[in-house]
Amino acid sequence: MTMFVYLTAGFVLFYVFLYYFVLKAARCCSQVKLQGKTVVVTGSNTGIGKSTALELAKRGARVILACRSRKRAEAAVLDIRRESGNNQVLFMQLDLASLKSVRSFAETFLNTEPRLDILINNAGVIASGRTEEGFGLAFGVNHLGHFLLTNLLLERLKQCGPSRVVTVSALLHRCGNINFPLLASTKDLVSGESTLQNIRAYCNSKLCNVLFTRELANQLQGTNVSCFCLHPGVIRTEIGRSLSWWQQLLVTPLVKLFFLDVEAGSQTTLHCALQEGLEPLSGRYFSNCALQQVGARGRDDALAKKLWEVSERLTGLS
Ligand SMILES: NC(=O)c1ccc[n+]([C@@H]2O[C@H](COP(=O)([O-])OP(=O)(O)OC[C@H]3O[C@@H](n4cnc5c(N)ncnc54)[C@H](OP(=O)(O)O)[C@@H]3O)[C@@H](O)[C@H]2O)c1
Ligand SMILES: *[C@@H]1O[C@H](CO)[C@@H](O)[C@H](O)[C@H]1NC(C)=O
Repeated sequence: MTMFVYLTAGFVLFYVFLYYFVLKAARCCSQVKLQGKTVVVTGSNTGIGKSTALELAKRGARVILACRSRKRAEAAVLDIRRESGNNQVLFMQLDLASLKSVRSFAETFLNTEPRLDILINNAGVIASGRTEEGFGLAFGVNHLGHFLLTNLLLERLKQCGPSRVVTVSALLHRCGNINFPLLASTKDLVSGESTLQNIRAYCNSKLCNVLFTRELANQLQGTNVSCFCLHPGVIRTEIGRSLSWWQQLLVTPLVKLFFLDVEAGSQTTLHCALQEGLEPLSGRYFSNCALQQVGARGRDDALAKKLWEVSERLTGLS
């Protein structure tokens, strides 16, 4: 009995220690206000994106929720307006799984919004399936859609400098790789649609986010636009929704114990979007509100350049 009490107490102490010193995320310390600034956040009807949009709205920005579902996004617009007291929060339709939708979003945005100060490429999926143009879903949504979106909005970002592009990657980019011949023949970076392959496809797409940011920074030299990518932490969101019920049952205890909430999950995105003086670090990767080294493949400039050229061709930009 006494043994049991000691063990339980020990576990609780260990957990509290782990939670506060290992798991608890650093916070964005910037006090920057955003009156008169416009930001776009993709995939902001839920999860990390919604929490990010809320904080940007609290700081006074005009916030565009670029989301695919009108119903889900309009509910988020109301929540964010109510919680922030800022009425400059709007929905604009964007389905990253359709390059046509990306183009039409950009057209609407450029015709109706005079400014763009911060673009946050946040939306992401782990799931099987194909985009409208037949690309693997993770590659198409997480990378290709954001690649086209950023390029179409780049002129406006340049006009509004100093401005930023922030792309939410993941620690799992370290497990990613890019198989160009496979991409050319199957329009995807993996073959197969098992859960394991979906996770591999996700890792690959997150490596694309890192390489995209690296090459974008090169191309932005001499402009007042800087760009960053990041790992948000391990966060309780809807990202695992495509898992089967028994897979969800297995991960639920871990999620409850060790995953942080979305407010903590938005801190590194906010750091990259707001922190003063980050410009010399354009192209780099952040985690826990601090600069981090990326995996070896994420530092390969030739790979980054090749991915850029291939993506230009696949999106019809070249
Ligand atoms: N959660 C984590 O632990 C973790 C760790 C590392 C990195 N990340 C990254 O953090 C980012 C945000 O993810 P989250 O965890 O907040 O996941 P989430 O709760 O599932 O939110 C993902 C968002 O992306 C949107 N989205 C998905 N497909 C889209 C499409 N075709 N077009 C437009 N929007 C689309 C979703 O919209 P719908 O609601 O309409 O589907 C949703 O708003 C992702 O890039 C993810 O890779 C998360
Ligand atoms: C960048 O911003 C500075 C300061 O606002 C300005 O003087 C400079 O002309 C800008 N450069 C470009 C390329 O727009």
